[in-house]
Amino acid sequence: MIIGVPKEIKNNENRVGMTPSGVAELVKRGHTVYIQHTAGENSGFPDEAYIAAGAQILPTMEETYAAAQMIVKVKEPIAPEYKLIRKGQLLFTYFHFASDKELTLAMIENGSVCLAYETVEKADHSLPLLIPMSEVAGRMAIQEGARFLEKPQGGKGILLGGVPGVKPAKVLILGGGIVGSNAAQMAAGLGADVTIADINLARLRYLSETLPKNVKTLYASELRLKKELPDVDLVIGSVLIPGDKAPHLITRSMLKMMQPGTVLVDVAIDQGGCFETSHPTTHSEPTYVVDGIVHYAVANIPGAVPYTSTLALTNATLPYVTALAGKGWKQACKEDPALALGLNVVEGKVVYKAIAEVFGLKYEQLNLE
Ligand SMILES: NC(=O)c1ccc[n+]([C@@H]2O[C@H](COP(=O)([O-])OP(=O)(O)OC[C@H]3O[C@@H](n4cnc5c(N)ncnc54)[C@H](O)[C@@H]3O)[C@@H](O)[C@H]2O)c1
Repeated sequence: MIIGVPKEIKNNENRVGMTPSGVAELVKRGHTVYIQHTAGENSGFPDEAYIAAGAQILPTMEETYAAAQMIVKVKEPIAPEYKLIRKGQLLFTYFHFASDKELTLAMIENGSVCLAYETVEKADHSLPLLIPMSEVAGRMAIQEGARFLEKPQGGKGILLGGVPGVKPAKVLILGGGIVGSNAAQMAAGLGADVTIADINLARLRYLSETLPKNVKTLYASELRLKKELPDVDLVIGSVLIPGDKAPHLITRSMLKMMQPGTVLVDVAIDQGGCFETSHPTTHSEPTYVVDGIVHYAVANIPGAVPYTSTLALTNATLPYVTALAGKGWKQACKEDPALALGLNVVEGKVVYKAIAEVFGLKYEQLNLE
C-alpha cells in the first residue's frame, strides 16, 4: 500500500503521525511511505531519519495527499485539507467528529474512509489509542503542578518531595483512571504525600494493591474531599464520566478552604473541567488565579512534549497501521472488532451511531462482508 504522512497544520500541533521506526516496519513489509518535508521536525525526527528508514520525502501537503492510498496523521483534517481528500482514500487519525459538524459533512461529501483513533475500542471497553495520551497527561500534570508550586510561578513555594527534616507536599488526585494513576506514580516517585480519590471501589482496591505505599486511596465523597482541602498543596482533576461533562468536585466556595498558592491542575478540562472555576488555557499562558488559588487547565497537555507524545502514540497506532496496510481496511476491520469500531464515516455514510445522533444525520450500519 502507499501510505502518506502529512505535516500537521493545526495550531500548535507538533506531533507527527509516524516515526522513522514505524516507516522502517512498513517498508520492510513492502509498502511505500511518503513523508511530507519537515513533517517530523517538531517532534525531533528530521527528514534524513525518515529517508534512512526507507521513506520518500514529498515537498508539499498537496502531493502527499495525492500520492497516498492511506493517510496517517495525528489531528483531524482542517479546512485547507478537506479538498485534498478523495473518494475511497483511507484516513487514520484523531477525528472527534461529534464536536465538529463542518468536518463531519466535509468527510461525508468527499467519500473517504475515516477511521478514528478515539473510537477504536477493545472488548473490555478500553480505548487503546487514547490511553497513551492520558499516560502522558497524567505524568505531565505532576511536572507542571510542581513547577507552579514554585513561588516565582505564583505557588506556595513548596518542594513536592520535601527534604530531610521537612515534610513533602500533599497531593490530592481526583479520579484514579489512566491519568490519575500515572499522576500518582509520578508524585509518589518524587516523594510527595499522595492521596488518590475515586468513586469506583474496585478501582480503589486495584490502585491500593499496585501503587507505591506512599499513595493512600480515598472514596471521593464530598465530605471527605472537603476535609483534605485545608492542607493540600496540589490537586489534580482527572475524573471522567464517559460521554458526559465532568462533575464539579471543587466549587468556587471550596476555594476558600485552601491556602493561597495552592495549585489546581484540571486535566479533565477537555470535558468541561472538574473545578467550577476552570476554563481552558494554553501552553503559552497556562495559569490564572482565582481567590488566591493557581489554576492550570491546558487542554492539550501532551502537546508540550511532542517527542514523547509522538513515540507513545505511534507505539499504539503502528500495529493497526500495519494491519490496515497489509490487509486493506475492510479485511483488517473484519478480523479485528476493536479496529472496526474506529470506522466513523465510510464512503459518504455515517456508520457510528453516536455521531449520526449528535447531528441528526442518517446512521447506516456497515456491512463488512
Ligand atoms: N488536558 C489534556 O491534555 C488531557 C489529556 C488526556 C486526557 N485528558 C482527560 O483526562 C480525563 C481523565 O482521563 P482518563 O483517561 O484518566 O479517564 P479514565 O476513564 O481512565 O478515568 C476516570 C476515572 O474517574 C473516576 N470518576 C468518575 N466520576 C468520579 C467522581 N465523581 N469522583 C471521583 N472519581 C470519579 C472513574 O471511576 C475513573 O476511574 C478525561 O476527561 C480525558 O479526556 C485530558
